[in-house]
Amino acid sequence: MYENILLEIDGSIAILTINRPDKMNAVNNATVDELDQALSEIEKNPDLRVMILTGAGDKSFVAGADIFEVQKRDQILARSETRRRQEVYSRIEALEIPSIAAINGWALGTGLELAMACTMRIASAKARLGQPEVKLGIIPGAGGTQRLPKLIGMGRAMEMILTGEPIKPDQALVFGLVNKVVEPEQLMDEVKVLAATLIERPKLAVQYGKEAVLRYAEGSLAEGLAHESYLHALACGTEDKKEGIAAFIDKRKPDFTGK
Ligand code: COA
Repeated sequence: MYENILLEIDGSIAILTINRPDKMNAVNNATVDELDQALSEIEKNPDLRVMILTGAGDKSFVAGADIFEVQKRDQILARSETRRRQEVYSRIEALEIPSIAAINGWALGTGLELAMACTMRIASAKARLGQPEVKLGIIPGAGGTQRLPKLIGMGRAMEMILTGEPIKPDQALVFGLVNKVVEPEQLMDEVKVLAATLIERPKLAVQYGKEAVLRYAEGSLAEGLAHESYLHALACGTEDKKEGIAAFIDKRKPDFTGK
């Protein structure tokens, strides 16, 4: 059904794979449209608890936007194509369920932008992460200038965006750009261990926690605190909150129902 991506459902995990390995999984406009459709499928499936995003093959997560399409961009096309990508990547960020980028190789340009739209990132030790657009005479256009400084701070983001030089995973870990670095052959197992932990937690508390932290990225402390308080209050109305606290007091494992 899709030509440029794969969507696999593994229990309560959706595994979304950018599937253009002969093009280093470069994201073209058709891939963006397919991602949008896949997100609708994921959103409609109430059994899903985590999304994993990765790239096909063992070389690349995503090596940027498709350069042959970027070559054709004039100012008008560039506005519509960047806005479209921003919209779709923001949908990933705003999914009710958390997402984990399994960075299995090159995460360049729009690849890093996609990874940053995910809730968390785990990188293979052979991954390389960068915003190389400046080397092509352009700048990031799918969220890089906004999400990168929020994740790693302005000075580091300036260096990455203005030099275009990629960084190694150990540096990305120090920067806080990735949550963990693992050996390439362990990447999917490690990502699934993190997914399993998220699935074990009460569904609504995970959803509200994610929503509250995303407010932080929007910048206003007063609004962020107000949202945190409302979302905390919502969590206090759930059955899983009663169960979580009762289980702690009874010294037993909680049995969460997602309600
Ligand atoms: N868009 C379109 N095609 C791309 C691509 C991209 N962003 N990145 C790689 N490819 C294609 C290459 O054109 C090549 O296709 P071909 O076999 O038909 O010639 C194929 O993928 C393999 O890439 P190649 O460059 O030969 O692999 P490599 O191992 O030598 O280098 C990279 C890997 C990722 C370092 C290199 O491909 C690269 O720098 N890509 C562009 C990164 C970039 O600038 N992204 C930002 C775009 S805005």
